Amino acid sequence: MYISSEDERLLREGGYLAKALETVIKVGEAVKADRLLDVDTVHVSGVSYLTIGDAGLEYLRDISSGGARFRVFTTVNPAGVEYGNMNLPISEAFIRRQMEIIDYLRKMGASLWLTCTPYEFIKPQPGSIHAWGESNAIAYINSVNDAYTEKLPGPFTIMVAIAGKVPRFGLYVEENRVPKVIVRVDARLNPVKAGLLGRVIAGKLRGEVPFIDYDGWDRQLLKAFLASYATYSPVPLAIIKGVNPNWRKYLSMVDKTDLITIDDGELRYEQPSEYDALFIGCPHANLDDVMAIVKALEKHGYRRLTRPLIVSTSRFIKSLLSPELINKLQEANVYLITDTCPMVSPILKGLGIRSVATPSSKAIFYLPRLVNVNAMPCSIEECIEHELNER
Ligand code: F3S
Repeated sequence: MYISSEDERLLREGGYLAKALETVIKVGEAVKADRLLDVDTVHVSGVSYLTIGDAGLEYLRDISSGGARFRVFTTVNPAGVEYGNMNLPISEAFIRRQMEIIDYLRKMGASLWLTCTPYEFIKPQPGSIHAWGESNAIAYINSVNDAYTEKLPGPFTIMVAIAGKVPRFGLYVEENRVPKVIVRVDARLNPVKAGLLGRVIAGKLRGEVPFIDYDGWDRQLLKAFLASYATYSPVPLAIIKGVNPNWRKYLSMVDKTDLITIDDGELRYEQPSEYDALFIGCPHANLDDVMAIVKALEKHGYRRLTRPLIVSTSRFIKSLLSPELINKLQEANVYLITDTCPMVSPILKGLGIRSVATPSSKAIFYLPRLVNVNAMPCSIEECIEHELNER
């Protein structure tokens, strides 16, 4: 692998930068990269105490107190708790350890966005280089912005943030981004069906990049589709007609294609009625998601839902809502939680929630596996209607 004279000089200087660079080079050699690329941004995943435990905490303590610092703009994924909130139904020991982890990341220079949707706030240029560790966000900027990132493991994103470089391999190479299968979607999507579509397509392919032929995307559908697709597929990129700024160029590079069609029959689901709570916000809810809930409640005179609706979102989105609106939502049994993700937090357990209905295919995959909560598909608007019409 080619190493520049500047990188050779940094390696000779020693310290954490040299160690991180050495790790990045070793990984690059293992994946047969030809050279290193300068990175514009890093997004670190795996920051919850629930998933990284004491080993992860001690590692971050060691490197941050040893002087490791991030060389590029770095954001972080949701943690296991709301930052600074000690009044959660979670043990104090867990909250303290989680806060320690966050503080070590801050000390190294991370911007504590604590959200899995950094793409709501960063608009990467086509062809720009990033090193992100959160699969839904990776699939989003690869597919929607045609920015370049591979699916990188959380601890490796920390090394990349310190080194400021990533090996050029996989989806960092243009020819690996060319679609191999055309997927025609013959259905009308809503967020639940968009999520199911991601799972169905990933299940039909063997890791090839698909070209998706469907008109009628909006931001919510893209988010739901790509989060699910990246959960079930090893390749976090789909070239989407009319969405990827270079979709015509990619299409012209296709030499031999298979064609598959997905129709409505493959995207059926039944609205559930037995669940402890409704959940939305995997990936983190944006303003449109919150406003859709407000609208659905307004339609029924803001009556209180029988079962709680949990909304996980970023602190930025919450800061756009007035305290009056947040109170009004709480009175209607709707709760916003920020900085965290119920899949990597003991919060649902602490609230006594054992089953949820959610539009998110990604949450349906992870909730039973990570926190032992049963999850079933539902359209939030339909569930709200159903709850309020029941009475
Ligand atoms: Fe985000 Fe957690 Fe879902 S990190 S994408 S809310 S699993």
